[in-house]
Amino acid sequence: MTFSDDSRWQAFRQAMPVTQKWAYFDHAAVAPLPQTTAESITNWCQQAAHEGDTVWLSWEQAIEKTRESGAKLMGAHPDEIALVSNTTQGINIVAEGISWKPGDNLVVLGNEFPSNLYPWLHQQAKGVEVRVIPVEGVEPDLSRIAEACDTNTRILTISWVSYKTGWRIDPATLAKIAHDAGALFFLDAIQGMGVFPLDVRSADIDFLAADGHKWMLGPEGAGLFYCKQELLDELHPIGVGWNSVADRKNFDKTDLTFRPTAARYEGGSQNMPGLIGLGASLDLLLEYGAGPQTSAIGERVLQVTDWACEALTNAGAKLITSRAGDERSSIVSFQVPGKLPQALRAAGQKMGVNFSVRGDFVRLSPHAYNNQADIARLVETLAAVE
Ligand SMILES: Cc1ncc(COP(=O)(O)O)c(C=O)c1O
Repeated sequence: MTFSDDSRWQAFRQAMPVTQKWAYFDHAAVAPLPQTTAESITNWCQQAAHEGDTVWLSWEQAIEKTRESGAKLMGAHPDEIALVSNTTQGINIVAEGISWKPGDNLVVLGNEFPSNLYPWLHQQAKGVEVRVIPVEGVEPDLSRIAEACDTNTRILTISWVSYKTGWRIDPATLAKIAHDAGALFFLDAIQGMGVFPLDVRSADIDFLAADGHKWMLGPEGAGLFYCKQELLDELHPIGVGWNSVADRKNFDKTDLTFRPTAARYEGGSQNMPGLIGLGASLDLLLEYGAGPQTSAIGERVLQVTDWACEALTNAGAKLITSRAGDERSSIVSFQVPGKLPQALRAAGQKMGVNFSVRGDFVRLSPHAYNNQADIARLVETLAAVE
């Protein structure tokens, strides 16, 4: 089936109970859960209540499947994936794990979400220079980024898609800029992973983190961290615990030999219901065509956002987001002249149309199951505000 096959997207829509009530355009904030995900978490709750840890091994197997599905989504090996609590944890595994030397610097954009700034700014206490590249407008200046990377740059860190403007960078281009300077490359992938294709190998990504609660349609607090196999020993593991070591189930033997995989960063007990839920969501996305090389989900989301942009423009909105080629993402930011973003949001909440406000913009973030009827409801919302 192709992305234009309506029945496919109609079926995907039916998998999302939220559509019964809401025109839901807020996946860049927190996604609603697919029915199968909700069921898998409910099932875990029932098992935990009725069986306790007698079924623990089946939970462990289930989260290993989540690891495999996460790896499949981005073209990684499961050994390169750590199951983490959020994007922030993944960023800190890298920021705190690099053995910084005096005189080192790192490069980051000025319009990053705070999670991709604070862990890096925190390294200043170790004498690291943090080079924050301002972004004027929506487009990051790649030549300024490249100029900022020198022989003392240890890492370039950037978001795949800007949470505020929806600008989508090409991860391979940014990875090359970092590598040409002899630096590492970190991708905050939360605003793209699950929708757009990304092959960590061909894009040559060193590290990546993404919580599942946005485009991967998982619950909050269950995410993926990727570490390129060759770099495992570059990162000093933080948050070390029983679950970090090779012989992790032998509590009577003390041997601080780390697991030979990215799971060494997991430390302690896992968020079983969250990660089981994330696994169900990943399986749904893979079933509907998400993948590392091509993504039917991504094509469909671009189609939905194109419809939305056309309808918004016809309704008098001013788009902030670029709609050119691969700069497009699943986030559309806009303003309606004479109408306050917060007033539009308040009207939307009353009319069953959910979207966010970021800065001075309304931020619309549809998924592949949104349709023209949802967009018509959005336009009605705009019209309802004086
Ligand atoms: C670019 C980006 N990074 C990170 C996060 C959230 O991080 P975490 O998963 O640690 O809550 C967000 C949330 O909006 C985001 O937009």
